[in-house]
Amino acid sequence: MVSVSEDRRHGPWPAVRSGVDGKRIVVTGGTRGLGEQIVRLLLTDGASVATCARSEPDLAALAKSLPDDQGREALFTQALDVVEPGLLEEFVEGAAERFDGLDGVVACAGGARGGGLEEADAHDWAATWELNVGHTARLVRAAVPYLRGARGTGGGSVVVIASISGWKPGPQAQYGAAKAAQIHLAASLARELGPDGIRVNAVSPGSMLIPGKRWDRMRVAQPEAFARFATEFPNGQLVAPQEVARVVAFLLSDASSGVSGAHVPVDRAQNAPSAEGY
Ligand SMILES: NC(=O)c1ccc[n+]([C@@H]2O[C@H](COP(=O)([O-])OP(=O)(O)OC[C@H]3O[C@@H](n4cnc5c(N)ncnc54)[C@H](OP(=O)(O)O)[C@@H]3O)[C@@H](O)[C@H]2O)c1
Repeated sequence: MVSVSEDRRHGPWPAVRSGVDGKRIVVTGGTRGLGEQIVRLLLTDGASVATCARSEPDLAALAKSLPDDQGREALFTQALDVVEPGLLEEFVEGAAERFDGLDGVVACAGGARGGGLEEADAHDWAATWELNVGHTARLVRAAVPYLRGARGTGGGSVVVIASISGWKPGPQAQYGAAKAAQIHLAASLARELGPDGIRVNAVSPGSMLIPGKRWDRMRVAQPEAFARFATEFPNGQLVAPQEVARVVAFLLSDASSGVSGAHVPVDRAQNAPSAEGY
């Protein structure tokens, strides 16, 4: 049976809207996991959203799943790999053309390549860097000319999805190092782009319970190990992607106009970032 507290965490969305009505936002990696929840929340709250992923069928399924009244017109999609030079930049330009400008971008696509130190090779380190840090820098660079003209009192807003692994040690150091670099990138770009009226913030999710993904699979297949992992969270519950999406929407809204260069963990006070401890 679903408890009341679980209900509150997973939806329906709070009656209060997040303040992104009319905003024009680009979100990378919007077909699954956190990115999907960000896209759905922004659309629900009246934003126009452009998103990309490598799988065209997944993008088509996302569009098809939207209720008619959200207006499929508000969603612009393109299949591409964010690490391919030029494609991400063309996508950002296409989104700005479609929406007649941009107000925000969310660098959400990310992940790790390779295993531990002795398994991961130079290619894994470079690929992990490029997927997380490289794509973020190129996304922001492509969006800056449009974000300078953002509507609203909050100016242009960039949200970089980092991770608890970027500030607490965990296995797969190439991933944590790239996520730490994203946190630094956000703080540095906030200073560099501040004069243009563009805010930049990093959000670090804790380990999210996403249906079908790593921790959810562990919950089903290894309940004892999962219960041990859950003790890393003071209230025994992993953070939900919907909870992280709400913080991202706040940072895209004018209500957060005073927030820039910040690193915002959304991790329910998680201790170690992995089931393996550290
Ligand atoms: N999951 C967690 O517990 C957790 C915790 C902390 C931080 N994070 C961070 O949160 C972000 C989202 O994680 P997630 O677990 O929700 O991701 P996910 O479920 O793996 O989803 C990734 C999304 O990004 C797209 N994507 C992946 N690689 C791409 C590429 N090279 N080019 C274009 N699109 C790409 C995927 O679609 P395609 O596969 O079709 O490309 C999908 O839409 C990541 O930056 C991750 O590092 C996750």
